[in-house]
Amino acid sequence: MYKIAVIGGDGTGPEVVKEGLKVIEAASKKFGFKYETKDFDFNGERYMKTGKTLEDNDIAELKKFNVIYLGAIGHPDVKPGILEQGILLKLRFSLDQYINLRPIKLYNSAFCPLKDKKESDVDFVVVRENSEGLYKGMGEFKDKGTKDEVATQISYNTRKGVERCVRYAFEYTRRRNKRKTLTLCGKTNVLTFAWDLWQRAFNEVAKEYPDIKTNYAHVDATAMWFVKNPEWFDVIVTDNMFGDIITDLGAMVQGGMGIAAGGNLNPEGVSMFEPIGGSAPKYTGKNVINPLAAICAGAMLLEQLGEVKAAKAIEDSVIKIVKTKLKSLAAGKMGYSTTEVGDLVVKNL
Ligand code: IPM
Ligand code: MN
Repeated sequence: MYKIAVIGGDGTGPEVVKEGLKVIEAASKKFGFKYETKDFDFNGERYMKTGKTLEDNDIAELKKFNVIYLGAIGHPDVKPGILEQGILLKLRFSLDQYINLRPIKLYNSAFCPLKDKKESDVDFVVVRENSEGLYKGMGEFKDKGTKDEVATQISYNTRKGVERCVRYAFEYTRRRNKRKTLTLCGKTNVLTFAWDLWQRAFNEVAKEYPDIKTNYAHVDATAMWFVKNPEWFDVIVTDNMFGDIITDLGAMVQGGMGIAAGGNLNPEGVSMFEPIGGSAPKYTGKNVINPLAAICAGAMLLEQLGEVKAAKAIEDSVIKIVKTKLKSLAAGKMGYSTTEVGDLVVKNL
């Protein structure tokens, strides 16, 4: 019996998670696994009523679950940063979800903004470090508000933190077993402390994986190649900030936020799966948002639980409807409502 904690969150989060759970329910019947869910209301509304984001006892409670299924965090009436840091990043950090895994896969070339790219040209995975770097929140103001003000924001990289991420990426590349190529994406030419450490850790771990080809690309060049030659990539490993940026670009290349899913992984603990797009306030409650990113996150969640066949079946069903039914992957333009898209995935399972 798997225990799934559900955090719908803000905006369209609850709507898309509902469709994801519909698909998980159908998959459980077909593939014969059992699970139970519990809802948690960590979100902007609750924060505005109670002033609370996420407390230590909430974290303790969440640790009792096998996985967490998250919708979206972010509320237009709450100052940017409060919910993101107080809920989303707090979850990632306190559950030590040190990997953010973001597959970039094009399911229908008609939805790719790049000219002349086939589905097989866009099929790679970004392994984003998820616990350190610029996200650590280190830095300070000096003389705040004066004309001599200085703000620093430190990128914090530990050898242990970098090495466990890099090692995960090598293992993942081996397990994925496609082109067996791992690219380190960094900025060794300018950020000479952080990326020196990354490069050394990468080179040393690489010696343990003679079957994996390695590459290095600066982050700016990586952005260029995502657009020019996405087919060059198999698996990319990078730090928290660069990973954040390039995976939004990746999401566009695979057809948009409507289809982009990710996992925040603690391979030894509680992992959390989410669509990577935001809470989309303007589409909230209209039954127009694309639930496929959340549904794909649900498939990743099942894969993590060991339900590999169910995960594959969900992905195949998503591919089928993306290829044969949907007019677009964008909210309001799919030719179907949010709930109808969920139903289509269930029907094709
Ligand atoms: C993401 C999001 C978050 C991040 C925000 C909401 C804090 O953009 O999951 O990529 O920057 O990691
Ligand atoms: Mn992001």
